[in-house]
Parts: sequence; C-alpha cells; structure tokens
Amino acid sequence: MDALAARLLVAGVTLVHEPTALQTPGGGYGFRFFDNEGRTVEISAEVAIRRHRRIEVGESVPVRLSHVVINSADPEGTRAFYERHLGFRLSDTLMHPRMGEMMYFLRINSWHHSLAIARGPHPSLHHASFELRGLDEYMRGTGRLLRAGVEKIWGPGRHLAGNNTFSYFLDPHGNTVEYTTELELVDEDTWHPHLYDFSRPEVSDQWGTANSMNEFVARKSFNDLDKGLFVAPPV
Ligand SMILES: [Fe+2]
Repeated sequence: MDALAARLLVAGVTLVHEPTALQTPGGGYGFRFFDNEGRTVEISAEVAIRRHRRIEVGESVPVRLSHVVINSADPEGTRAFYERHLGFRLSDTLMHPRMGEMMYFLRINSWHHSLAIARGPHPSLHHASFELRGLDEYMRGTGRLLRAGVEKIWGPGRHLAGNNTFSYFLDPHGNTVEYTTELELVDEDTWHPHLYDFSRPEVSDQWGTANSMNEFVARKSFNDLDKGLFVAPPV
C-alpha cells in the first residue's frame, strides 16, 4: 500500500489522502487518489470480510460485484492510466467500422474483465454489474425485475467479449445496473486480446434474444456527467 502510494506520487498522480487506517465498515488500511479524469479511486487492504450466508439454488440474489464499466471522453488515456498505475491488462476490444475502437475490457486477475472503459461524451458511470449464482438464477432475477416493472434497457442475452450474460436495468437514480453470470476466466499465459466488430449482431448478443443495440441503449448508457470529478466524496 505504502509503496503504491509512493509510486503514484512520484508519477504525478494527485492523492486525496495518504495511506491511513480506514474508518469505513470493515476497517483496513488504504488511500484515495484521482484518476486521469478526476474519478476518486480508493485502494484498500486488510478490510474485514463480512459474514454472509450461502446463496441457494434458485435464489436470484447477487453473489458478488462482477465488474464496473465507466464512460470516458478519452478512453485511450484512461486505459493507459489504469494499465500503467494499477496493472490492469487488456482482455478484448470492441470496435465499430465507422466509430473506431469503442470499448476496452481490462482484467486485474483471471476474470475476463473487472473494469471496462467505454468511449462516451464525458466521464460517468456506464454500468455496474452483479454476478448471479448461475444461468437459472440470472434468468429468475431478470424476470423478477421485469415483473416488478423496472425499466429494462437491454437484454437478456450473452455477450461475445467475456462470454457473460447480460440484463441491463435502470435504477431509481438513472444509473444502469446489470445482472450477469458465467463471465469467462482467461488463462494469463495463452490469452490474446480480440478486436470484435460490434456492428455484427452476434458480437453484442450471441443468442439473438436481446433487443437491438440502438440509440436508446447507447443514450441511456452515457448517463449524466459525473459531478464529483476531482471532488472526493465524503467517507
Ligand atoms: Fe457488463
């Protein structure tokens, strides 16, 4: 923790605060800094693990946060920042024949992506994705939200990049959240990143079950400009 903070400082990254004992639930030790576009990033270690029960067969309760996708006005710069400073590695890229490279999937461990960076009009949250126990639980969760009248943005379907399933919904604050499952695990020694053309329908939606990826989906995903850039949120 101390070594990383020192390295970031030398590289000119702005720290919000130096490594210290964290006062948030679970405690631990950590620090915060601003990324290249002003998002607040917190690094932590030794945070206590919350006691939790096992999720049973058929329960549409998320088992973990799967990944987060952020919009960036400078996706190449943002990708370079996370690769250089935090050790993320490129798993796959989505491109469009007219618009060029549009999304970078980055991994920090064997999961195909924990972070992805999408080209957008401004820095903002694209979506946060929650992993369900398996395919059955993912579909049950999707159906539960549909029955409850939650606005569906896109899905259900299975992406090619990461091979994970997707159902995107709008939360009460207008942020997009996703239910997913079966995200691919990559073999570090043999993986080669793909460049996928997402104007091919089977790239976004292998099964052909989702509504088409159109202006509506894209606009909802841009979200509002993050008003907290270079302003650390209160702890
Ligand atoms: Fe996702």
